[in-house]
Amino acid sequence: MSWSPDNTQVNSWNEWDPLKHVIVGRADDCHIPPEEPALDAKVPEDSDMRGQWGRRPQETIDRANELLDNFANQLKARGIRVDRPTSIDHSQPATTPDFHTDSQFGCMPPRDVLLTVGSEILEATMSYRCRWFEYLNYRPLMQQYWDEDSNFRHEAAPKPRLTDADYHPDYLSEKIGVEKRLKWAEEKFFVTTEEEPLFDAADVLRFGKDLVVQHGFTTNQKGVEWLRRHFIDHRVHTVNFPGDPYPIHIDATFTPLRPGLIVNNPQRRLPEDQRKMFYDNDWEIVDAAQPAHNTPPPLCYSSTWLSMNVLVLDPKTVCVEKSEVYQAEQMDKLGMEVVEVELRDAYAFGGGLHCCTADVYREGTCEDYFP
Ligand code: NVA
Repeated sequence: MSWSPDNTQVNSWNEWDPLKHVIVGRADDCHIPPEEPALDAKVPEDSDMRGQWGRRPQETIDRANELLDNFANQLKARGIRVDRPTSIDHSQPATTPDFHTDSQFGCMPPRDVLLTVGSEILEATMSYRCRWFEYLNYRPLMQQYWDEDSNFRHEAAPKPRLTDADYHPDYLSEKIGVEKRLKWAEEKFFVTTEEEPLFDAADVLRFGKDLVVQHGFTTNQKGVEWLRRHFIDHRVHTVNFPGDPYPIHIDATFTPLRPGLIVNNPQRRLPEDQRKMFYDNDWEIVDAAQPAHNTPPPLCYSSTWLSMNVLVLDPKTVCVEKSEVYQAEQMDKLGMEVVEVELRDAYAFGGGLHCCTADVYREGTCEDYFP
């Protein structure tokens, strides 16, 4: 059956085929969560976020929502169906028999939680306690898709226990220093242990038959193994980016634009031995342009490399944040039509243009790009 906006179908196999249906997050009720092991390890040591927590100021929520609404309208104007999550009350504590934390996070970045592979949307285990219940923001949509698309497979990975055994205590000291962090990253010694499978959906990139997964703070080796056993028709590859002292989420590090072309963060280069599958199949990996900003916006978890957190609309068209002029210029030189989207004031709520979206439908089928 062909796609139309009122005929819900879940189907997306990669990061670049023509996008027809997408979820765009909301900034509603977003909280800076209290301290917890995995989150502390990620917040940069010189960040203005250390030691702060609570609901974000309403005027910043309103501004972020204005930008997210505008982005949704830009996509709709291009004929793309846009759905939005239903925010739960993020001020509620997250409590299970194994842990307690005093608040939750938000629903701005659906990409962190939802992994779409073909006709399946998989809810990730997540690896922060404050994000354990985040899937609830998307359940109304998942239920709707399930009712409307008889081929839709709604899956959830096993919820992790997230006891202290999931985290290396070495990462919990106040001052570790970037040098030691880089050494640990090089040694693949991350904050999460191998107690149980852990992964965030934003550590996974989809290349048709191949899934490329970053092993780092938010995804451990058991998480990658879980994905391998789950997606039995796929090849699952583990990648590392040793230059990143805070390795969470792959989408400000490695950005495929179209078959044959990937932009890679020049401070977090994919090691030579992990490039083989790309080079053997004539893919090009180019260094990303420098970010336009020297610092992230206030109270933001992410680095300035959200510049490369772009949303590809089709193999010739890409959404780039409006102020990221160097990244836009590079995209243009790489033969992409650039759609400017203003989003910087929403970065603090969970990321950029790729983070704040999750695919529901892209045209195309599962192809083997690395035969
Ligand atoms: N590790 C990333 C997360 C971005 C989505 C960063 O550069 O902040």
